[in-house]
Amino acid sequence: MARKPLMAGNWKMNLNHVEAVGLLQKLTWTLEDKKHDPDKSEVVVLPPFTDLRTVQTLVDGDRLEIGYGAQDVSAFDNGAYTGDISADMLVKLGCRYVVVGHSERRRFHGEDDNIVNAKTLKAVSRGMVPIVCVGERLAVREQFRHVPDTLHHVEGALVGLTSDQVANMVIAYEPVWAIGTGRVATPEDAQEVCTAIRGWIRERHGGEVSDRIRILYGGSVNARNVAALMAQSDIDGCLVGAASLKVDEFSAIARFYEMPVI
Ligand code: PGA
Repeated sequence: MARKPLMAGNWKMNLNHVEAVGLLQKLTWTLEDKKHDPDKSEVVVLPPFTDLRTVQTLVDGDRLEIGYGAQDVSAFDNGAYTGDISADMLVKLGCRYVVVGHSERRRFHGEDDNIVNAKTLKAVSRGMVPIVCVGERLAVREQFRHVPDTLHHVEGALVGLTSDQVANMVIAYEPVWAIGTGRVATPEDAQEVCTAIRGWIRERHGGEVSDRIRILYGGSVNARNVAALMAQSDIDGCLVGAASLKVDEFSAIARFYEMPVI
């Protein structure tokens, strides 16, 4: 059982398509220069929709060892959904991954577990890998309800998925209080919830599926804290926001395996 670590950079609403070229080229050069081993971590960027065509052209044209995907997808196929982007459009742009249910979508766009579930189903039906985000708010953690609360979101997001689809998806545990705050969860806190998620998957879908699914941690990950997080047995990678916009930082995160655990 070998789960390849996944380091996914969520650019959020940053970098236009011209800036995306600059960051991607620098990231590629830096990873090559520092001899990043693609067998030891898969590097993925998640740019805004408007950058995707440019990113596709660059990745395909230069055969970059960088994967990419989108930050959201419509729950609908096509038609009168102003402002939405369909799964088919993303597939046409070569997207392998798509983030679903990020806490910022839940907060600013009112997405609930039903919508997250519909988007997840849509993504897998088109062969994309959804990165489904779950995680508790601060008030919930302060009441020590973070494990049941997070599992409730996992359950809601995964309704109707087959075991095979679950095995191939990615779940990102992102405690809301740790996102963009500089307040990272301790490795033990993150491991506690990631272990609980894997245990829930094992119960519902069996050991083979729970051994295969990749579970990420996200929330204020940087080059200094990544090695300790990755040393936890149930953390298979990180969803990285702010630090993914800095080439040196993100390339160091991708090479977490070279760092001492402090
Ligand atoms: P952050 O964001 O790394 O800036 O905390 C993580 C995320 O929102 O995915």
